[in-house]
Amino acid sequence: MKTLIICHSVHHGNTWKVARAIARELDADLIQPEQFRTGMLDQYDLVGFGSGIYIARFHHDILDLIADLPHQNGKKAFVFSTAGNCCEDYHFAVVSVLHAAGLDVVAEFSCEGYDTYRFPGQSVNSGRPDDADLERARQFARDVRDKVTEPVAVSGQAGL
Ligand SMILES: Cc1cc2nc3c(=O)[nH]c(=O)nc-3n(C[C@H](O)[C@H](O)[C@H](O)COP(=O)(O)O)c2cc1C
Repeated sequence: MKTLIICHSVHHGNTWKVARAIARELDADLIQPEQFRTGMLDQYDLVGFGSGIYIARFHHDILDLIADLPHQNGKKAFVFSTAGNCCEDYHFAVVSVLHAAGLDVVAEFSCEGYDTYRFPGQSVNSGRPDDADLERARQFARDVRDKVTEPVAVSGQAGL
């Protein structure tokens, strides 16, 4: 199963740590949006999209990249993010554009990330993602792999 992960991580590199953990587990190619070229997805069976959360959304570079994709005819995809106040509610916009691009979102992951986008001098989630977060990310990757590679149930009788 050939996997591409596209990740944007501009605040503290938090989401990139998660992306690297998932990429290692799936033996995936990991790139930033500026390295993406139209047509690249044709070489992959599964695509992951990751981003920090900025004003309640994925980074606009990722959203724009997805919006510009040709229709993907049900190719499998997953999304992941880090946020100051996690969680997956922030995935609504990205999942919507992925569906519009014909991608089938099979799984989502999110965790807290170190956040200094606060009142001056304030921060939360020091040290996150931590080892436990990254282990959860690796488990997520294994679950995605199992989900995408599980045999399709065959129903009906021979000859029908
Ligand atoms: C401009 C900006 C906007 C942010 N907006 C949110 C937000 O709406 N909700 C939230 O929970 N965290 C928000 N954060 C915190 C980041 O989502 C969090 O620190 C994340 O882990 C950053 O990931 P990164 O280091 O991969 O960029 C924001 C951070 C920045 C810099």
